[in-house]
Amino acid sequence: MSNWRRSFLKNKKILVTGGAGFIGSHLVRLLLKQNHEVICLDNLISGQYQLVEPLLTHPHFTFIEADITHPLPSMSVDQVYNLASPASPKDYQKNPIATIKTNVIGMANVLDFANSCSATVLQASTSEVYGDPEIHPQVESYLGRVNPIGIRSCYDEGKRSAETLCSDYARQFNLDVKIARIFNTYGPHMRRDDGRVVSNFINQALLGENITLYGNGEQTRSFCYIEDLVTGLVALMNSTHDYSPVNLGNPSEISMRELALMIKNLIPSDSSIIYKALPQDDPSRRCPDITKAKKILSWSPTTDLRDGLAQTISYFKNL
Ligand SMILES: NC(=O)c1ccc[n+]([C@@H]2O[C@H](COP(=O)([O-])OP(=O)(O)OC[C@H]3O[C@@H](n4cnc5c(N)ncnc54)[C@H](O)[C@@H]3O)[C@@H](O)[C@H]2O)c1
Repeated sequence: MSNWRRSFLKNKKILVTGGAGFIGSHLVRLLLKQNHEVICLDNLISGQYQLVEPLLTHPHFTFIEADITHPLPSMSVDQVYNLASPASPKDYQKNPIATIKTNVIGMANVLDFANSCSATVLQASTSEVYGDPEIHPQVESYLGRVNPIGIRSCYDEGKRSAETLCSDYARQFNLDVKIARIFNTYGPHMRRDDGRVVSNFINQALLGENITLYGNGEQTRSFCYIEDLVTGLVALMNSTHDYSPVNLGNPSEISMRELALMIKNLIPSDSSIIYKALPQDDPSRRCPDITKAKKILSWSPTTDLRDGLAQTISYFKNL
């Protein structure tokens, strides 16, 4: 049995910041299933209270409504997953200052808190730290090409600063820190109105509206199903790996036009595909190199895009 599998069999007290969000709500459920005691801390800026409400009666679950830009409540935990941050462009562009403060001041508060109780921290970083990349697929050693003053900067540069803080706390205080660079993730519990491409296309196709493609639709992304992603996060948290970042995502690349057609066929819908101007700083290609995750975590995603989209469509239909 691998080390990380053995270590998560032991019950732990785990704080998940941002646990009322899309990824956090799945992570919290997985950790509860593994018999850990889970504390979810969230200010609900982009989260959904209805995702934590059904867990409130669970004997090992606690919800704290709080903001990580303020010092965290005093308590002792074994692990902290720091997922708190608006993540969709629509959310962070509506709240740019709150977003960068969450990723800088909030990150420092999370690290101070973890240092006070010697907890291991996993930071949910992002492929956005690579900006509009010049190399393809993106490998962890690539330093990125990010605009510091654009409309995405509060998020991209915020996450880059958060990685800097993580590595400085690891070096200065010997804090056990892990950095996951998460690539586009999709699945049930996404908000229908979060403005991300998968939810947009499904929503438009379900309503019979035009499916909006930006630019010529040839830009690519790679989509990882939520269950694969949270398994990767838990594997990294429980590994002996240090603070050097690890890409977590699905390396199968698809163009936005192909994605629109796949969703249109799965629903099925007679929506037309229409084209609009590409937003500022929208990366043209994004695809992870996951050689490192495969090597150190024996992790790789297993869910086929068509199957994952079918699960997501069925969740949206039942909302
Ligand atoms: N979903 C993706 O494809 C993706 C890709 C890369 C990285 N990530 C990262 O993973 C994390 C979770 O993303 P998500 O998709 O679940 O987003 P989400 O918006 O659904 O969840 C983020 C959660 O953090 C909470 N939050 C935000 N600011 C906070 C603050 N200051 N204090 C306390 N809580 C706060 C929100 O209310 C929300 O519940 C984020 O850090 C995001 O940057 C996500």
